[in-house]
Amino acid sequence: MAQPNQKKRLTVPGFVDLKKASRKICVLTAYDFPTARLLDDAGVDAILVGDSMAMVIQGHDTTLPVTLDEMIYHGEMVARAAKSSMVIVDLPFPTFHMGVHKAVELAGRVLKETQCQAVKLEGGQDQQEVIAGLVAAGIPVMAHVGLRPQSVHAMGGYKIQRDEEQLLADALAAQSAGAFGIVLECIPEQIATRITAELDIPTIGIGAGANCDGQVLVIHDLLGLTSGYVPTFVKQYANLGKTIRDAVGNWCQEVRDGEYPDAKHSFK
Ligand code: KIV
Repeated sequence: MAQPNQKKRLTVPGFVDLKKASRKICVLTAYDFPTARLLDDAGVDAILVGDSMAMVIQGHDTTLPVTLDEMIYHGEMVARAAKSSMVIVDLPFPTFHMGVHKAVELAGRVLKETQCQAVKLEGGQDQQEVIAGLVAAGIPVMAHVGLRPQSVHAMGGYKIQRDEEQLLADALAAQSAGAFGIVLECIPEQIATRITAELDIPTIGIGAGANCDGQVLVIHDLLGLTSGYVPTFVKQYANLGKTIRDAVGNWCQEVRDGEYPDAKHSFK
């Protein structure tokens, strides 16, 4: 039962209404409790427990190795932290490629065991049947078209996707199957603008220009915590990598110099 004075969580229909109200939608990834709590406090509309976790947290080269159990483990922490942001958990490869029945079973586990509000899966036209099956089971689905990192090998690398008619067909197919939103990843701005205009559901862009209904970024990229390659569409709003390296370096120096702990930080 809702408690008085408790902040209200953004719902799936509320998410769709943001497009109708022309209010840009802010989505960021998080993979743990403290980060999710900070994003929730800062007022992001939705937190995505992305399978980017495989690269950002686990240190893999692709998103393919992360398992369903790992997504559930991290999704549960994030959903427990988020009080007002909607929480969406990515379905990892290949959980939704084994038929509608299996997809409902596995996405159902995600919803039950994490208490998130929705799942995301990569695909459009090719996943129409699965999206419709999940939606019929009461599992809200966000689709993901354009660059689909789970298909990196089939696509021959992380490349900008330019097939306008296919991208539009994917987005329209996902919408007609019942998806409540669509991530558009790494597509030219003009194509994202057209898709956004033709859809009733929100488009959430990442490397898709300014005219999507919302934007999503990987939190480690935004905060300057990513080691190695940072995509050109990322704007860094902080350099926490430097802040952490400096703080830890200072601590090591003070321990080695015998300055820490001093009297103020010791028990009498
Ligand atoms: O896994 C992820 O973080 C994503 C976003 C980059 C959209 O799918």
